[in-house]
Amino acid sequence: MQRIIARLNQEAEAAFTKAGLDTSFAKVVVSNRPDLCEFQCNGAMAAAKTYHKAPIAIAQQVLPFFEESPVFSEVQAVMPGFINLKLSGEFLAQYMNDMQADEYFGVERAKEPKTIMIDYGGPNVAKPLHVGHLRSAVIGESIKRMGRYMGHTMIGDVHLGDWGLQMGLIITELKERQPDLVYFDDSFEGEYPEEAPFTISELEEIYPKASAKSKEDPEYKEKAMEATHLLQQGKRGYQALWNHIMTVSVNDLKKNYQKLDVEFDLWKKESDAQPYIPGMVEYMKKEGYAHEDQGALVVDVKEETDTKEIPPCMILKSDGASLYNTTDLATIMDRMKCYHPDEIIYVVDKRQSLYFTQVFRCARKTKLVDEDTVLTFLGFGTMNGKDGKPFKTRQGGVMRLETLLNDITEEMYKKIVDNRSIKEADAHKTAQMVALAAIKYGDLSNQASKDYIFDTERFTSFEGDTGPYILYTIVRIKSILSRYVENGGDTKAGKILAPAGESEKAMMLALADFNATVENAFAEKAPHKICSYIYDLANAFNHFYHETKILSEEDAERRQSYIRMLELTRDVLETSIHLLGFSAPDKM
Ligand code: ARG
Repeated sequence: MQRIIARLNQEAEAAFTKAGLDTSFAKVVVSNRPDLCEFQCNGAMAAAKTYHKAPIAIAQQVLPFFEESPVFSEVQAVMPGFINLKLSGEFLAQYMNDMQADEYFGVERAKEPKTIMIDYGGPNVAKPLHVGHLRSAVIGESIKRMGRYMGHTMIGDVHLGDWGLQMGLIITELKERQPDLVYFDDSFEGEYPEEAPFTISELEEIYPKASAKSKEDPEYKEKAMEATHLLQQGKRGYQALWNHIMTVSVNDLKKNYQKLDVEFDLWKKESDAQPYIPGMVEYMKKEGYAHEDQGALVVDVKEETDTKEIPPCMILKSDGASLYNTTDLATIMDRMKCYHPDEIIYVVDKRQSLYFTQVFRCARKTKLVDEDTVLTFLGFGTMNGKDGKPFKTRQGGVMRLETLLNDITEEMYKKIVDNRSIKEADAHKTAQMVALAAIKYGDLSNQASKDYIFDTERFTSFEGDTGPYILYTIVRIKSILSRYVENGGDTKAGKILAPAGESEKAMMLALADFNATVENAFAEKAPHKICSYIYDLANAFNHFYHETKILSEEDAERRQSYIRMLELTRDVLETSIHLLGFSAPDKM
């Protein structure tokens, strides 16, 4: 469906043409004086210079042609030459009915759908998910859902970190604790046990211990590096342990992401790209892209226009070991080969920005990606606590994602039980839903690239710009609709009429922005635009609700029209929160 602003521009162009003026001046914008009008056209100011007339004279010249358009109910020329516009109720009602009839509520889906891979989540195996992993998961999931809504093929890949030193650390620590395990017996040739020699809790206890030890004890670190190297060389017993670590850890990760309502299409991992590395290195050498620098193999990626130094992209260390870079480049090869994406989006901490500049330049220079494949880095800022420092537990430790989720759920549970009469079993489920809304909305309502403060008190409030407030509004609409149905009403009957009052008109104007909002939010990869849209819409609805007797409206057609408006508002709000990655209960 055409955006409302595009339709208004068409009308303005017609008016300017009829008045004998150039259409380049006919531009309508949202009013910056909402107390006076809804939209305005400032073209008379610019036209005045071209036509050597006073702006107000130009405005008056086009005014009659705006007046004859069925789209406007009120047009006014005001000094020094503004044209103030208000939309006709009939036109808006028609727009509402058209939105309601459209499966996508007026959103123009992509004419040429693209294949877009989105690399998000990015957890490291065997380390518990902590709050630092929240943003990538939440932002990535939202962008994936937005892209799908727009009609693109979105492929989400968790890109597990499974190939680094953490594996060697765990193996080393296990060996210290249980040297008799068959995995450490070099003469063993049989089948390794199917059961892992540790549980997820043990694994999560082992890693931080090993990591701390390696920082204090260089010899221990040496052992861990050696173990990592042997694993990467394919040592049988270590491979078997790696498999156990993967199974135990991935199961746990899946559970955690499920609780967050985050779902990946691919559970690929760094190690999946390893087979590409030897060929890639050969190719980069042969084509002359890579050269040796102090024993290491590097590709220069600086450009003349650089204002700060961009160091070369290192492909192999002097000992021949591969790096994070190497894996990311090889992963690009894998992605190109398997999926031929038009774009790859990386949702990663913005502190990795320079790193991705190097990787992207290197991939382009060495032609690992097609010329028209877009590589996008979507860097996000840090989630801070109220003290402005990275969010921590009360004791100052790293906050696990699970703990955060549980804490917020408990908080919501208390509020729900305090406020309402809701069944115990329902209260738990509802608390989980509201908690997710609080966390995700709290995160997504901030521009992704900025740091923000995770303010539990504010995020869990039912008032203000919060997830719970949005859910509360949806639940309010749902409960009116179900009362209407219980009393024998048919929610599908009738149609939306021209608004009966100002608050209803404001709600219609807010609804009408849905297509532009979603289209822009996806184009700019900016979920916060959807948040501010639904906050405005929820406010517009609540204002209307407080002023209007809906179910007791006596005029049947008017009552039906209200109900249709409520349905549309509920659907637009629920679609929007789906795009943000959460959903609303029926009651709360
Ligand atoms: N595992 C990485 C980390 O913890 C994030 C992975 C981001 N994705 C990528 N393709 N490098 O920093």
